[in-house]
Amino acid sequence: MCGIVGYVGDRDASQILLKGLKRLEYRGYDSAGIVLINGGLKYCKGKGKVEKLGKMLKQNALAGTIGIGHTRWATHGEPNDVNSHPHLSESGKIAVVHNGIIENYTSLKKQLIERGRTFQSQTDTEVAAQLLEEIYTTSKGVTFEEAIRLALKQIVGTYGLAIVHTDRPDRIFIARKGSPLLLGIGDDEMFIASDASPIVEYTNKVIYLDDGEMAIVTKDNYEVKTIDDVALTKEVHELAISLDAIEKAGYPHFMLKEIFEQPRSIADCMRGRVNPDNGAIQLGGIEDVLDELVNARRIVIAACGTSWHSGLVGEYLFEYLAKTPVEVEYASEFRYRDPLIGKGDALLVISQSGETADTLAALREAKRRGALTLGICNVVGSTISRETDAGVFTHAGPEIGVASTKAFTAQVVVLMMMALAVGKRKGVLRQEQMLMYTKELAKIPSKVEYILEHIDEPVRKISGLFTYAPNFLYLGRSYNFPVALEGALKLKEISYIHAEGYPAAEMKHGPIALIDEMMPVVVIAATDHTNDKMISNIEEVKARKGRIISIMNDENSDVEDLSEFHISIPSTKDCFSPLLTVIPLQLLSYYIAVNRGCNVDQPRNLAKSVTVE
Ligand code: AGP
Repeated sequence: MCGIVGYVGDRDASQILLKGLKRLEYRGYDSAGIVLINGGLKYCKGKGKVEKLGKMLKQNALAGTIGIGHTRWATHGEPNDVNSHPHLSESGKIAVVHNGIIENYTSLKKQLIERGRTFQSQTDTEVAAQLLEEIYTTSKGVTFEEAIRLALKQIVGTYGLAIVHTDRPDRIFIARKGSPLLLGIGDDEMFIASDASPIVEYTNKVIYLDDGEMAIVTKDNYEVKTIDDVALTKEVHELAISLDAIEKAGYPHFMLKEIFEQPRSIADCMRGRVNPDNGAIQLGGIEDVLDELVNARRIVIAACGTSWHSGLVGEYLFEYLAKTPVEVEYASEFRYRDPLIGKGDALLVISQSGETADTLAALREAKRRGALTLGICNVVGSTISRETDAGVFTHAGPEIGVASTKAFTAQVVVLMMMALAVGKRKGVLRQEQMLMYTKELAKIPSKVEYILEHIDEPVRKISGLFTYAPNFLYLGRSYNFPVALEGALKLKEISYIHAEGYPAAEMKHGPIALIDEMMPVVVIAATDHTNDKMISNIEEVKARKGRIISIMNDENSDVEDLSEFHISIPSTKDCFSPLLTVIPLQLLSYYIAVNRGCNVDQPRNLAKSVTVE
């Protein structure tokens, strides 16, 4: 949610910032801007995408070797030129870019106005710039760094901040509370960013700032401190992401690339962890807490969006394979209840980005109450992955498309491996079962590959027939009920078609009223143990003239005969089927969105990583 980039060195800063913003654009794309120090502050900003900013910069080039930039997902104030970042103080000497929300900005703004300051924008960020200037100019003997510390003490809320001041033209000040920031260390140059994507092409050495920390960054040095001025020595991490992983590699969209990457991303997720020869599952990240997890009274899974859907698949998996009671919670609800969780429970948070504000808050709440906390994250170095007691990375590689695809399948694979590991350690799964499950799991990447090779064309054709459908219904049972939710979410997000997912039998309790000859109903009928029941549900839809598109296992003639369209996929164990059934749904939503001319990778109103509540 919003992207920050910063550069200090000897190169043309505007080009580095522009490129960085392009890479960060998946985090927010309402407006974009940069500011450079060169004598005074020179800036360029405006509503619209980074491409537009690039055109503006072509007409009015900004020269300089130090600067900061921002791409915005609006929280306070509509996306327009004035509300876009950077925000300048009244004198025009201080510029600020900000991720997060300043919760007390109304009262701070009121006080600043009463003391004579005038504001240009409706944003909370401008308050930070103005407050900072007021403190700096009115408090005797206070350095700019001290002024930042004093201002941060007055700010309630979350921030990732990058600040420049013409009085200190060789440095960028950054501070973090709740919104991620990292520092890239180059040779006589430094980079700042809200995630690693703008940095990877220049350096693989990074420092992650933690909450309550700030840094002062010059081209050949950096100092990290707490905002109480205690100097810190931070670990320098090595980034493992390659540049290829964050580029489109010839695909028209990141989403399509990421869908087609799934045979590899699923295999990467299992690599070194699933051994079909001896039936072993080895999850290094949770090995030390496996006994505690096995003995947990229950597991509570908290997540948002697609990650919540994978959590729901996890519930079925843990109950079936490990006989462990599981509850799945929306992280946003969990954190504001008075959740009955504590010692003896395990909280498992799932997050692609590892930065989702509600998921992070749920994690902190459960930790505070004494639960064992575990994480499933994709982004290495992310806040959630650093704050959980233990966890498993999905290793799906960077996911840039706002609609999550390969992260979902990788999360589900991790849940499968975890459930098998717990089941085995608990003694509820026998060795021959482990052999059978691991053998089947190991076949999943090639089955996904087969699906992608064989269904792309049929799905594309079906998508053409339903491009302008105003509504869609998705039905699934058991392990595929969460897949129905996920299919509906994918379609909503990128095509703006209203879609709902339901457990197939629940349809009778209301949604059946919607079915007529205009309603496409996507039925996920690829789970053997619910096959007969699913056929009855399909009959119910057919009797009301609904247009049935079924996802079925090869050779299921009953389902095929009842369906107007069918997409056949290979069969697998029921508990692994979400990894296969979700693929046609991802493609269906993708092609429908493309047919409708939607911006697939950057759907309206959304951002990849939701770092505000
Ligand atoms: C998925 O397509 C969505 N864009 C969204 O629901 C996402 O899954 C959710 O915001 C959670 O993100 P996280 O996995 O990074 O925590």
